Amino acid sequence: MLAVAFGTTVAMWGIGYLGRMPVEPSSFAGGGRVLIPSAVLFFALAFALLAGGFVFGRCTLRRAGATLGTGVLIAALNLLILLSLREQTPLAFIPGSVAVIALVFTAGAGLGRLLRLPAEAAATLNWRAALSSVAVAATLLLLLAGGVVTGFQAGLAVPDWPSSFGHNMFLFPLAHMTGGIFFEHAHRLLGSLVGLTTLVLAVVLQRVEPRRWVRVLALGALGIVIVQGTLGGLRVTQIDIALAITHGVLAQVFFSTLVSLRVFLSTAWRELRPEAASPRSALDLRLLSVAVALLLAQILLGALQRHVARGLHFHLMLGVATALLVVVAGMRSWALYEDVRPVSRMGAWLAGLVMLQLILGVASYVVVGMEQRGAAPSWPMVAVTTLHQTMGAALLACSTALLVWHHRLAGVHAEVSPDRAQRSPPWTRTPRAGAARARSE
Ligand code: HEM
Ligand code: HEM
Repeated sequence: MLAVAFGTTVAMWGIGYLGRMPVEPSSFAGGGRVLIPSAVLFFALAFALLAGGFVFGRCTLRRAGATLGTGVLIAALNLLILLSLREQTPLAFIPGSVAVIALVFTAGAGLGRLLRLPAEAAATLNWRAALSSVAVAATLLLLLAGGVVTGFQAGLAVPDWPSSFGHNMFLFPLAHMTGGIFFEHAHRLLGSLVGLTTLVLAVVLQRVEPRRWVRVLALGALGIVIVQGTLGGLRVTQIDIALAITHGVLAQVFFSTLVSLRVFLSTAWRELRPEAASPRSALDLRLLSVAVALLLAQILLGALQRHVARGLHFHLMLGVATALLVVVAGMRSWALYEDVRPVSRMGAWLAGLVMLQLILGVASYVVVGMEQRGAAPSWPMVAVTTLHQTMGAALLACSTALLVWHHRLAGVHAEVSPDRAQRSPPWTRTPRAGAARARSE
């Protein structure tokens, strides 16, 4: 219920965020055209809600009460935005919207039930991993939204925190959310949703996760997101650029933590048990440790350039060296670990993404250079630099995920005798783990 409710809400907020985005320089200052007209936006939101219901009906064995409960939970989460409409709408709008959201979701569930998964297949679905995937997706959206705030230099568009222009942030009238205020305030709202999702994930894991260290990691992620939110707020109230830089870097560390948690919760991680240490993995472990350290340095140098225009030359030189190392690490994982599908797949992604990052880096350099002094930041510049920044987070997360996998593959030396390690393949699947299941992870 929680995975579908939060997943649907994140999808709806993502659509709403994109839809209300100001699109031309005049509208960055306030008012003006937005990306998606209201009527189209309304149908897109309804579709997301129906799709969420469909997934619920198709994948769960729950009865009508649970379906309605999930719909009401989605409505309750959406009230964090809908309450901001209270001044512009009749009083009945709020309970009306709750009822409509719950009903549309239930209708979607009805459709999903027509194509319901067989009970055995539904019983094997990994909902803990699904909830953590929702947290990962929500954070990715937030990283993009944060990059847009910095890109449009809208960091101080709302002067106060935790209130917004004196309003409770969840009651700040939507009609005033235009231009720079839209970018900054929407980022706060999305930050709250990410904080709430991480809180729920941590609480759920405290109750159902048997591995203590995974529970501790979930609490760690919760700690980081609290610090991150506070840093964001203090950056506004203290007007301190050092806080903006720290906030930018910690965001990427938070994302990597969530992705690692997602790896630990995956079915593949739980079911693929290395039988013997892989000597190859020991080398990959070292390579990836250096790659993660270099990526962190790159992210810090990038943030320095972005916020205070310092260290670009170091960033460019280190960027090329980092990219080379990351490509090698990614290609090794891709080519040498075909038996461990998550590792080989992540290796291929890592090698591909870092190439893309180099292109985005060069493109950022060019578009930032083309900006005219004193003019409003252009959309192409903001889009390219934000993608480059978010790709930094994706690379750090992917490398960290590979690092923990290799740590696992390399870390069983003590458990096996050297001759056994030579005779048997370095890792095997437990009989329970079907190839199809591993692939689905
Ligand atoms: C809770 C999780 C949060 C995450 C993961 C996050 C992430 C980010 C990211 C990635 C950036 C772009 C940084 C850069 O380009 O260097 C950013 C910028 C920003 N964030 Fe957040 N943020 C969060 C919460 C908040 C909150 C609660 C606030 C409250 C006001 C906030 C305020 C800001 C501001 C003002 C900026 C622009 C900084 C500048 O350009 O000077 N953030 N955020
Ligand atoms: C693995 C390689 C690289 C990584 C991981 C990386 C990462 C990053 C990150 C994360 C940021 C933004 C930091 C923040 O705001 O918090 C950034 C900024 C930047 N990077 Fe890179 N980068 C890489 C390579 C390159 C290359 C090769 C170039 C140019 C040829 C480049 C040019 C830039 C520029 C110009 C900025 C500042 C953009 C702005 O002012 O908005 N980067 N980089």
